[in-house]
Formats: sequence, structure tokens, C-alpha cells
Amino acid sequence: MTHSTPPTGHRIALLPGDGIGREVVGPAVALVEAAASRYGVRFTWDEYEWNCEYYIRTGRMMPPDGLDQLAGYDAIFLGAVGDPRVPDHLSLWGLLIPIRRAFRQQINLRPIRRLPGIRGPLRSEQPIDFVVVRENVEGEYSEIGGRLYHGTDDEIAIQESVFTRRGVKRVMRFAFELASSRERKLAAATKSNGIIHTMTFWDEIFEETSREFTHVATRRVHMDALAAEIVLRPETHDVIVASNLFGDILSDLGAAVAGSIGVAPSANIDPSGEHPSMFEPIHGSAPDIAGQGIANPIATCWSAAMMLDHLGYPDAAADVVSAIETVTGRGDTLTPDLGGTATTQAVGDALLGALP
Ligand code: IPM
Ligand code: MG
Repeated sequence: MTHSTPPTGHRIALLPGDGIGREVVGPAVALVEAAASRYGVRFTWDEYEWNCEYYIRTGRMMPPDGLDQLAGYDAIFLGAVGDPRVPDHLSLWGLLIPIRRAFRQQINLRPIRRLPGIRGPLRSEQPIDFVVVRENVEGEYSEIGGRLYHGTDDEIAIQESVFTRRGVKRVMRFAFELASSRERKLAAATKSNGIIHTMTFWDEIFEETSREFTHVATRRVHMDALAAEIVLRPETHDVIVASNLFGDILSDLGAAVAGSIGVAPSANIDPSGEHPSMFEPIHGSAPDIAGQGIANPIATCWSAAMMLDHLGYPDAAADVVSAIETVTGRGDTLTPDLGGTATTQAVGDALLGALP
């Protein structure tokens, strides 16, 4: 794709967050700039220091008008959130989850692929290439509930799951459309044998939507069996649609099976396009390795490719993915999670050098 001058520009809100999030965004920003500039596209990045340090100073993860500040951007690019000094439910529900919800990022797309040269923990070397389409704003992640009789033997904790017809239908349609453009195979993660209200509802809407997409081969698989399948036969999957919690679990499982959670990207998409979508690696802030400069930047760089694609630059996105494949295929510059000894910076430099 070529653009005539003046160059097109995009404004991105950059939230490095905590831990290794702060280390992996730099290489991704550099890669986006390099890839996009070849197509005459410019990016401006406004960095926001909203993270657990900010929480320790102010008692909040972002200012009261934080979401308003983000609303005008073309996209949000996030590293990772979480620090052992702040309980996770406060940091995540103070920043990541409110962004997903306020901006109606109802779809979380999580491609799982075995990259060239990556062995992974399985004996089989079959290609792995599937996408988890995760419902991203409702389901098991809900604030509905509470606790009673704190600290006594009678204490009760209740957390309600919320499944709406609109929300389930939307994620189903999205997954069917994606499957239509791939190998036309869609599995729905369910657990309606045990969870009898929300999951039977989920199954019904899956079935109902499948009638609009008769060319897609469908399967309903209970979450426990699906977890086993992903370990035993990951190569058989094409698209998997899952609720918020199940999608969360399946994407870490899939990424680990495909080689490393250090390579798996994600896109939190507002399908209406009305609000900014958000791009982030699926991994967390990894306090155990933070500060050592050895975090794998590939997941974040691949998330950046998803952002380029989302903003309408599929060629630049493909160039970034191709650089990633070249570097993993060569195998001489990999971080420790992939069995190498390279630093984050060295992998970032190798990716830049590998842009086609
Ligand atoms: C993810 C993460 C988050 C989630 C956590 C940090 C709240 O695990 O994006 O996969 O569960 O959505
Ligand atoms: Mg997760």
C-alpha cells in the first residue's frame, strides 16, 4: 500500500504499565514506526504513566478523567499491569478492565500460532494455528455480587456471571465471520453439563447463529475436554469462541502449547469502531523477571502488528509478522523463555533488522 504525501498520521495512547510491560513496549514502538514509515504512515505516541507506582502515590490507577483522556485516540497500546505491592484486583479493575468496558471492547482476539523455529513443549511438531475469540466485557468477569458476614464462620461470597443475548450474539457472529474467512471450523467452549443457566444460554445462541453460517463446521466442546484437546491435538483447531474466563484460560494454555506465552498477542476490539481498540500482549507484568531486560518483546510486537492491521495497514502488519518469523526461524536471537540468552533489546534490534 502506498500513501501520497502528506503522510497519514495516527495518535496512539501508550500505557507501558508495570514490570516487563515497561520493557517490551519500546521495541514494539520502534518496530511500528519503522514498518509504518515505509508506507508513509506516521504515529504519534502519548505516554501515560498510569500504573501501580501511580496507584501507590495517588490511590488510583488513573486520574478520574483518565478514560476521557483516552477516548480521542485512534488506539491504545498497553504493556502489562500488575505489581506485587498492589493487590491485582485493584490494579486490574482500576485500569485494564475499565478500559475494555468503557470503550466497548467486546471482542478479544487472540491468535495462537507456532512460530517458525519454535519447539514448544509438545513432542508433535505439527503446525499450530488457531484463534481464540474471547468475549471481553461480560460473562464471569462481573462486579455483581458481594460478601456478607466478613471474617466470621458464616462468611459468604457471591459473584454473578452476566451473559446477555446481545453480548453472546455479538461474539458468536464475530467468531463465525472469522471462521468463514479461515478454515471454516468453529468450536465453542462450553460447560453446560455443569453450569446449567448461563452455559445452556451460550449453547443456544451458538446453535442459533450457526444457522446463519451453514458453511462453517461447528462443535460444542466442554471446557475441560477442550483443554485436553488443546494439549493433545492443537493442530485440529481453527477458531474457538469462548466466554471471558474460558477464553482467558484457553489463550494462556494455547500460547504455552505453541511455544511460549512470551509470543502471544491480543487485540481488544470495539466492533462498532466508535471507541479506540486496545492492543496488548496476553502475558502479564511478570514481576519475577522484571528489571532484568530479558522479557520477550515478541508478543507485544505481534500485538503492534494487530494494531497496524486494525488501523488499515495490512501490509505494514504483515511486514512486522514476517520480521518476527524471520527472527524465530533463525533462532540465534531469542530470549530465555524460548531457550535463548538474548536480551529484550537484542531481540528488538533483530526484529528491526529483519523487516522486509
Ligand atoms: C488477560 C489477563 C487479564 C484477564 C487479567 C490481568 C485481569 O489475564 O488479559 O488475559 O484475565 O483478562
Ligand atoms: Mg490472561
